[in-house]
Amino acid sequence: MGKVAVAFAAAAVVAACSVAAVMVSRRVKRRRKWRNVVEILKEFEEGCDTPVGRLRQVVDAMAVEMHAGLASEGGSKLKMLLTYVHDLPNGTEKGTYYALHLGGTYFRILRVHLGGERSYLDVQDVERHPIPSHLMNSTSEVVLFNFLAFSLERFIQKEGNESSSQGVKRELAFTFSFPVKHTSISSGVLIKWTKGFEISEMVGKDIAECLQGALNRRGLDIHVSALVNDTVGALSLGYYHDPDTVVAVVFGTGSNACYLERTDAIIKCQGLLTTSGTMVVNMEWGNFWSSHLPRTAYDIDLDAESSNPNDMGFEKMIAGLYLGDIVRRVILRMSQESDIFGPYSSVFSEPYVLRTNAVSAMHEDDTPELQEVARILKDLGVSDVPLKVRKVVVKICDVVTRRAGRLAAAGIAGILKKIGRDGGGGITSGRSRSEVQMQRRTVVAVEGGLYMNYTMFREYMEEALVEILGEEVRQYVVVKAMEDGSSIGSALLVASLHS
Ligand code: BGC
Repeated sequence: MGKVAVAFAAAAVVAACSVAAVMVSRRVKRRRKWRNVVEILKEFEEGCDTPVGRLRQVVDAMAVEMHAGLASEGGSKLKMLLTYVHDLPNGTEKGTYYALHLGGTYFRILRVHLGGERSYLDVQDVERHPIPSHLMNSTSEVVLFNFLAFSLERFIQKEGNESSSQGVKRELAFTFSFPVKHTSISSGVLIKWTKGFEISEMVGKDIAECLQGALNRRGLDIHVSALVNDTVGALSLGYYHDPDTVVAVVFGTGSNACYLERTDAIIKCQGLLTTSGTMVVNMEWGNFWSSHLPRTAYDIDLDAESSNPNDMGFEKMIAGLYLGDIVRRVILRMSQESDIFGPYSSVFSEPYVLRTNAVSAMHEDDTPELQEVARILKDLGVSDVPLKVRKVVVKICDVVTRRAGRLAAAGIAGILKKIGRDGGGGITSGRSRSEVQMQRRTVVAVEGGLYMNYTMFREYMEEALVEILGEEVRQYVVVKAMEDGSSIGSALLVASLHS
């Protein structure tokens, strides 16, 4: 071989070696990055773990905090608010009533007609609209209430001559899904905003008065007869259909629960007398906190960057507004520490860009190649994500939703424990489960988009309820879905006030 040929051969060998070295080094880097991803996932999964022992601790903490919140004002993070609702609709109500519901994402208007028998409940018109975002953060409440009055006016104009309430003053329930300190069933002041609403001027104002003022300004002959939390509306509808309903829970954009409490157990309000000896208490459980809740670094960051830091800690782990954002935060960290989503994309830096309905669609994607996951990621601007990475995304959704569903179950079991319907005879009894005969059928009314539309959330909640209560006790606890329950139930409540 000539010298030139030798030189060529040597150069070729060197080149081949360097190519191989580059390839090996890339493969090593890729492996290292994938290991990072696996590590992040593992750490997250461990951080969200909710074995039944931990859930039981959450159950106990919920029941203890309920006691503390009933004992004194400010005694717990659970506000345990009085609602002045002591008689729930029983089926004898008659007439036509209206409800206007300001929720977290939508507002609804509807009219119900009642014929005096339980079976004669006619929900005649339902309008459902997204709440324009500028109204959630406007500087003045007048803009929001004018808008609500205007929408109600349009709704009523569409009735034409059909409505049987022609010529009669219309009675309206205002379902207001935020914490209110009531002074009566029809009045109360806003304590604080939640779920991203921020009209600071409104805190401390009487909400029913604000709406009544706006209706009067438009010359509408409508009377705001009741100011109702959405959970209380759901409880009313539940009770109307089934008097064993004593608890109602909302899993929507936000989350909360209410239940029927004995007035003598509401110690912070001594001497409170009602004809039924009971009152509905709005727990505002979104603000529940316990060191037993499995909190991760992602939850801490979400809270710190939210419009209400250090507030509504439980809600931020279980409600629809937040689940998507927890998933987004985990994906963001993975994309920063690896290139599994392709070259670093800023899309996951955008808060709330990943909605919980997208999480549920990805989680429940049953196509073999996870095409729905690919489509949703592509819509967000991240294309060509390999199958193994799509599987990671599904896993993150699963971890977040499993934790939410299981904590939701623990919350419900906490209420059952407080009222002695958990098969253990209540928080103070000290009797062992086996000593107690599970006594009464207990219905829990449940409402909200997260619960209605996200099957896996429902299933995880159901599974954990059985784990916590045991098969036998679980048979006495009926969880009933109430579509539009908050709005319809609030209208029924107004009807019961007029019957
Ligand atoms: C509010 C509650 C409401 C719940 C569900 C929470 O953010 O504080 O009043 O019931 O959301 O809509």
